[in-house]
Amino acid sequence: MKKLLFVAVTSAAVFVACSGDKVKTWEGLAVENARIQMEKQIETVESLGFPFHNPTSLQDDGNVLYCDVTDWRSGFFPGAVWYLYELTGDSTFVPYARKYTEAISDAQYLRWHHDVGFMVGCSFGNGYRLTGDSTYAAAVVEAARSLSTRFRPNAGIIQSWDVDPGSEREAKGWACPVIIDNMMNLELMFEASRLSGDSTFYNIAVSHADRTLKEHFRPDGSCFHVIDYDSVSGDVRHRHTAQGCAHSSAWSRGQAWAIYGYTVAYRETGNDAYLQRAVGTFDFVRNHPNMPADKVPYWDFDAPGIPDEPRDASAAAVIASALYELSTCPVGDMSQEYVAYADSIMQSLSSAEYTAPAGENGCFILRHCVTSMPAGVEIDVPLNYADYYYLEALKRRRDLALAGR
Ligand code: GLY
Repeated sequence: MKKLLFVAVTSAAVFVACSGDKVKTWEGLAVENARIQMEKQIETVESLGFPFHNPTSLQDDGNVLYCDVTDWRSGFFPGAVWYLYELTGDSTFVPYARKYTEAISDAQYLRWHHDVGFMVGCSFGNGYRLTGDSTYAAAVVEAARSLSTRFRPNAGIIQSWDVDPGSEREAKGWACPVIIDNMMNLELMFEASRLSGDSTFYNIAVSHADRTLKEHFRPDGSCFHVIDYDSVSGDVRHRHTAQGCAHSSAWSRGQAWAIYGYTVAYRETGNDAYLQRAVGTFDFVRNHPNMPADKVPYWDFDAPGIPDEPRDASAAAVIASALYELSTCPVGDMSQEYVAYADSIMQSLSSAEYTAPAGENGCFILRHCVTSMPAGVEIDVPLNYADYYYLEALKRRRDLALAGR
């Protein structure tokens, strides 16, 4: 209860752009808008009743796509409601955050893909951070146990995807694919190690981060999307893409996952090589000639039709959130530049170009995201993880302001 009270007080002190305020900051307006939009989203979810309808994106017919518990995106909407509570200090959001989190409880036992870090970390992880509920901590540890079953010791990595006989992945020649996105699952492993006292989770996370550091990155600082390993010899078999425009291209969200993932890995270990990786990949992104002036990347930095290619607001939101955290690391003079860069991303995302009018866009906050151009799936749509990382970035921005930065 003490924790809840603290959240309410700090939120009110910094993000006070409610109607009647003389000066409305972009951050305050962004929270105000997010609240309006998400209240409508919650209202819709509630009206649909049981079973839980988990908003994920928009379908071609304009209807909201709801995902099931096994979808890699199942933790983002519950997590976004936790962030909404944290940003507004309004405890009426807590029962909804709890209900949606608990509705995906089975995610902690999922062992057939690697995304339990996203799924359980964003939902139960945030719930535990904000309430101290020990059952949520237990879910985080159980999810880490599930993820650990995918560790392949000879390669030193957590396998991302299964390769089923007759599948498209098998047709691509893959045996043990690891995607850069997998760096995002390590935060859960570090947290589970702290919660349980079991260093196995920590060691697996470090092993994965080390091997990824060695294999996924190019001399220019960008990363491959997919590295396919031989799980017996541990050798690399292929350097490929799944969602980028070419094996050699820089898929934007992949770069974002790398910057974010290595920032977290540095925070958790203090290993300077991880910090330099996050900095180096961000340098690639910010110096890239195809980075647009508003700093919301095209879906791939090498997309052939730039400037007539879709943007990916989800990549921008992930980069902004990562940069706010990176600014708190020992990066010297760059700290303020990282905050300024993240601010300018966030101001773009908070503008009418990317933020949807209230009640539109399936009641998602942001628009103009891409799931997969090569697969022709969800192009120029809202995505629940864009909203999640946008809210997380707003929360991190507020924390920096509270710390006087
Ligand atoms: N992790 C899947 C994606 O970023 O699309």
